[in-house]
Amino acid sequence: MSLEQLIRERRTIRKFNASPVSQKLVMELLLKAEQLCPYEGEARWRYVYAGTPEAREKLASYVSEKIMDSKMARLTLNKLMKSFHKRFMEAPANIIAVVKTDPDPIKKKEAYGTLCRILQNFQLLAWEQRLGMVWITGPAPFIQSEQFHKRIGLQKDEQFVGLLQIGYFDKVPKGRTRTHAERLWTAIES
Ligand SMILES: Cc1cc2nc3c(=O)[nH]c(=O)nc-3n(C[C@H](O)[C@H](O)[C@H](O)COP(=O)(O)O)c2cc1C
Repeated sequence: MSLEQLIRERRTIRKFNASPVSQKLVMELLLKAEQLCPYEGEARWRYVYAGTPEAREKLASYVSEKIMDSKMARLTLNKLMKSFHKRFMEAPANIIAVVKTDPDPIKKKEAYGTLCRILQNFQLLAWEQRLGMVWITGPAPFIQSEQFHKRIGLQKDEQFVGLLQIGYFDKVPKGRTRTHAERLWTAIES
């Protein structure tokens, strides 16, 4: 498969089949993704992995527990919570990508950008092996909550970048239309 074809054909996968995913493979692909990514300075990120059914159950409960504290929310969000829980239990492997913040705003942005590039490399390398994933940043307050970040062990000087749910799949969803690059282009006139 050519590089262009790989980039073009990769799709976000939200529905996984029951095939198990090897932690070793995920780690190898992630390390390779890191090695293939250009960056300045030292690595300022880390990953939290949840692959066993027990770990996934924990992760699912971390997402919902703050919300389920409230009786009102329990009643209104019950259906949503159930579908969220199901999604977590159906994803064989989960990676949480975490970056260190920096008092220097430029360094902070650079580290965040680098980790995003690594994750995209990882998505592509995994796709080559027919391993799919969805990169999740929302919705708030499930994923973007202080409680969830505390539970997954985020330190004060760390920022959550994304949760990747990973697994094998049977069906590839259709791609979405993209904004044409020309519409995003401004040339400085001479
Ligand atoms: C930074 C980032 C954040 C995303 N957050 C979510 C999310 O919170 N929930 C979700 O279902 N998909 C999420 N996605 C997946 C996108 O919806 C998906 O990439 C987009 O629809 C394009 O589809 P494709 O990856 O198949 O090209 C995210 C993707 C990226 C790159």
